[in-house]
Amino acid sequence: MMIDVLTLFPDMYKNVLNESIIKRAIEEKHLEVNLINFRDFAEDKHDKVDDYPYGGGAGMVLKVGPVVRALKSIENYESAKKIILTPQGSPFKQSKAYSLSQELHLIILCGHYEGYDERIRSYFDEEISIGDFVLTGGELASMVMIDAITRLLPGVIKQSSHQNDSFSNHLLEHPHYTRPREFEGQKVPDVLLNGHHAKIETWRKEHQLKKTKDKRPKLYKKYLEVKRDD
Ligand code: ADE
Repeated sequence: MMIDVLTLFPDMYKNVLNESIIKRAIEEKHLEVNLINFRDFAEDKHDKVDDYPYGGGAGMVLKVGPVVRALKSIENYESAKKIILTPQGSPFKQSKAYSLSQELHLIILCGHYEGYDERIRSYFDEEISIGDFVLTGGELASMVMIDAITRLLPGVIKQSSHQNDSFSNHLLEHPHYTRPREFEGQKVPDVLLNGHHAKIETWRKEHQLKKTKDKRPKLYKKYLEVKRDD
C-alpha cells in the first residue's frame, strides 16, 4: 500500500515510521509512506498556507491553493482514496481500518488552524475523525490511522493474531495470561493450564462476552443484534 500524507509537520512522523511493526512493514515493502509538505506549494513570498476567514471571526483558515496543488502533484492522485482528517468526520473504527487496508493508495490531508477552506472538501472522498476531541492538527490522527491500517496489511502480522482482535467481531478480546502461574497471590485460571482446547475456547468466549457486556454495553448490544440476524 502507498500512503501519501499532506502535512505541514513531516518531522512529527520520524519516530513513528522508524519503530516496530510500521518500520518492518516499510522495510519489507508492504507499505510506503510519502510525506508531502504542502507549504512547498504556497505561491506567495512568505509561503503562506493559511489566511483570515472571509466574514471575520477568530482563527485562521487553511487555503485551498497549496493543498490542491500538492494533491495534484501526486502521481495517480485521481484513483487514490482521498481522506481529510477533521473532528467533523465519521468515526474511525476497526471496520474502517479493515476497508482502508484493502486500498492500494491512500492520500491523507492533515489540517491545522481553525478549519479548512470549504472548497478543499470537493477534492476529497471522505472525512474521518479519530474521536470526539479536538487535536491541534491531523498529524497524530493520521499516525493512529496508519498504525491501525498497517497491522492489517497482508503479510505484516500473522492473520491469526488479528482474527481475534477486539472489535473484529463486535466483541472485546478475552483475557490473556503468561508466566508466572502466580503473581502476588493472583493465579492464572486452571482451565488455561490443562491443555484442553475445547474447554479453553469455551472459557475464552464466556469471558469475551462478559468483558464486552461489562465494559462496552452498547458494543455488546450490537453483537447480540448481529448474531440474531446471522
Ligand atoms: N484534527 C483535529 N482533531 C481531530 C480528530 N479528532 N480526528 C481527526 N482529525 C483531527
